[in-house]
Amino acid sequence: MSGTVAFEQVGPIGVICISNPPVNAISHSVRQGLIDVITRAETSPGIRALLIMSSGEIFSAGADIAEFDHPQGEPSLQQVQSRIESLPIPVVVAIHGLALGGGLELAMACHYRFAHKNAKLGMPEITLGIIPGAGGTQRLPRLIGACAALGMILFGTPVSALDAKAKGLVDEVAENDMREAALRFCERLLRDQAGPRPTCNRTLADHLNETEIAAALQAHARALKGRTTQDLVVEAIKASKLPFGQGIAIEAALAQKSLASRESLALRHVFFAERESGKLSGQFSAKQAQPPALRRVAIIGAGTMGSGIAMAFVDAGLEMLINDNDPAALTRSREIVQSTYASSVRRRRITQDIADERMRRFRSTVALAEVTDADLVIEAVFEDMELKKDVLSKLDSILPPERLIATNTSTLSVTELSLATAYPGRVLGLHFFVPAQASKLLEIVRTDHTSPETLSTAFRVAKLLKKVAVVSRDAFGFIGNRMMLDGYFREAEQLLLEGATPAQVDTALENFGFAMGPQRVSDLGGNDVGTKARIQLFKRESRPDPYFLIADRLTEMGRLGQKTGRGFYRYEDGSREALPDAEVVDLIEKLASERGILRREISDQEIVERCILSLINVGAMVLEEGIAARAADIDVVWTSGYGFPRHVGGPMFYADTLGLSNVLQRIRHYHEKLGHYWRPVRLIERLAAEGSSFEQWDRTSTSQ
Ligand code: 3HC
Ligand code: NAI
Repeated sequence: MSGTVAFEQVGPIGVICISNPPVNAISHSVRQGLIDVITRAETSPGIRALLIMSSGEIFSAGADIAEFDHPQGEPSLQQVQSRIESLPIPVVVAIHGLALGGGLELAMACHYRFAHKNAKLGMPEITLGIIPGAGGTQRLPRLIGACAALGMILFGTPVSALDAKAKGLVDEVAENDMREAALRFCERLLRDQAGPRPTCNRTLADHLNETEIAAALQAHARALKGRTTQDLVVEAIKASKLPFGQGIAIEAALAQKSLASRESLALRHVFFAERESGKLSGQFSAKQAQPPALRRVAIIGAGTMGSGIAMAFVDAGLEMLINDNDPAALTRSREIVQSTYASSVRRRRITQDIADERMRRFRSTVALAEVTDADLVIEAVFEDMELKKDVLSKLDSILPPERLIATNTSTLSVTELSLATAYPGRVLGLHFFVPAQASKLLEIVRTDHTSPETLSTAFRVAKLLKKVAVVSRDAFGFIGNRMMLDGYFREAEQLLLEGATPAQVDTALENFGFAMGPQRVSDLGGNDVGTKARIQLFKRESRPDPYFLIADRLTEMGRLGQKTGRGFYRYEDGSREALPDAEVVDLIEKLASERGILRREISDQEIVERCILSLINVGAMVLEEGIAARAADIDVVWTSGYGFPRHVGGPMFYADTLGLSNVLQRIRHYHEKLGHYWRPVRLIERLAAEGSSFEQWDRTSTSQ
């Protein structure tokens, strides 16, 4: 008998409990275990109903994604479902926490569904580039209707138990003790002589029509831009109008097709890369470290970043104290936070009570000495080395040595800052992105002195804030900005000098899948912000000319971007629409002619190729220099923080799909044409010569 499925008899009810930590994935042992206990229940005298539950925090996260790369052994989930559906006694499932993907598909094959009021149910397969492959596209339409099923599968985000009940996916919702309530539910079914109720025998209430399909695709157009899985979902749901067996066969074929797609390989790569990036391997293993408690957090500097970071902690339920030596800054910060929560209340994202409770935890002070209680202090004062050193050394003198001190610097040396303290082991960089309360990525910057305990706590911080953590060594621009500046954005500027327009560069890269092209990003963030950051970065390491000629000249001209109505583009009053501006074209032509650059027609294909290859080349340098530990970490940084299309897998994964010898050949081509900064990185030369890939490099380097 499998160790992941337990069986017990409670009167006439056979209780089956899945226990496959950490997320009760429906792995092979669970499927086998379910078959075994069902067989046992069938031969146990007196059993008149079955109740399927799970132990742990959630009912099930679905099929075991780690099994997707290999043939899945029998019994399949479909075989387990057929077995359940054909049982002569009622089978009830009790859902708590989450029922996702294959977990929900298992539940849909049960005759009755019972859920705790806090449970959520969803079909997130689309986020992995696959279609539900265990009857989800056939049973969900039979339970909630084809049109609603299409919406739920395309959306991918779980719905609440109450919503699920309203849709017809759940029969009853439990308020409190789940097991007791579910047992009472089973007893009631037996009293009422309610028999089995196989979902596969239900008739479909509606069929999809083309108008509904178009509307559903349109509703998710932004999330599904450049993707293909949705077409397979539509095809599978259309097949739900056929007899169940035929529909299931079509679903199985489409599921196989989706599983083998590049899109799915890329999305699964990012899924595991995001989980792996939050861990450290080798002698620096975070698991070995004993992290200190984390209840109270203090932020120094109540500007844009400080306020956003403070909100992130308040939202996560922590006690927060924000300090600024300028009382007006504290007032402004409180107003910003208050209006952000007011807007969330208006949009029904949170209730007024929650907003009020959060504001109570948002405390502020002008007295630095009051932060001594904090378990973690994050400084977010002006980007100035001497000022930050002063703040850190003051914090060092008032905080007990085991408390953590983090800096949110984006350009300065965290090592130099840490050496302003007596305990550099407790110092690290926590590089938040704008807006800090909502952005997904957190770069954790470690120095040679940062202790394992400090790092361990930083990972817990990321988890608490529901952010994706990636560790970077302390270096010019860390991982993300280094690649953006030396690779991607620099090449975009070079293309402008050679003849492309800002709109052409942006549109080409947006068509590749970037959320926003580089010039539009610069205008949104402010060209002056980039110029100031580069001035600071150049104090660490200089870069030869030409380097951001255009953006820096725009800053000088006061063309700061959207905030001044003019940047790489011009903007009408109150509008965010980026309009072409002849003055910018004149400026670019002048800068190009001063440097003797001949302007020409440039194809969209060349724009994309050059921007992405330069990103890959600098990414390889970041790996070679040990700034990133894994190629997959770079993919996480770019997909979660810089708008690189997730379904392409990140720049390093994309390089592997192109083949590193092809990548090298094209980089050499541009090196000959454009000179020094295109020099191929040795790591790419080596991996290409070995017929290897970044993925293999990750595997061998992390196993050492
Ligand atoms: N299969 C295998 N492993 C899984 C898994 C799954 N479905 N879901 C999560 N895990 C693993 C993670 O890799 C991680 O492993 P690690 O500790 O070794 O790194 C561990 O479980 C914990 O996961 P998280 O760190 O993500 O834990 P959280 O508590 O933050 O989140 C979760 C839990 C919300 C369940 C999140 O893990 C999640 O969203 N999982 C994926 C859900 C999903 O996409 N399900 C559909 C699967 S495809 C399917 O079912 C196909 C079907 O149609 C046939
Ligand atoms: P900001 O100018 O909006 O706010 C800085 C705040 O620090 C001001 O309110 C100021 O009064 C306060 N301050 C200055 N000296 C202080 C002191 N001695 N004690 C207490 N408070 C003091 O700056 P912003 O944009 O919030 O940036 C803060 C930090 O975050 C900088 O290091 C910056 O490089 C970094 N960062 C900024 C990003 C951005 O896009 N704005 C992104 C990521 C990091």
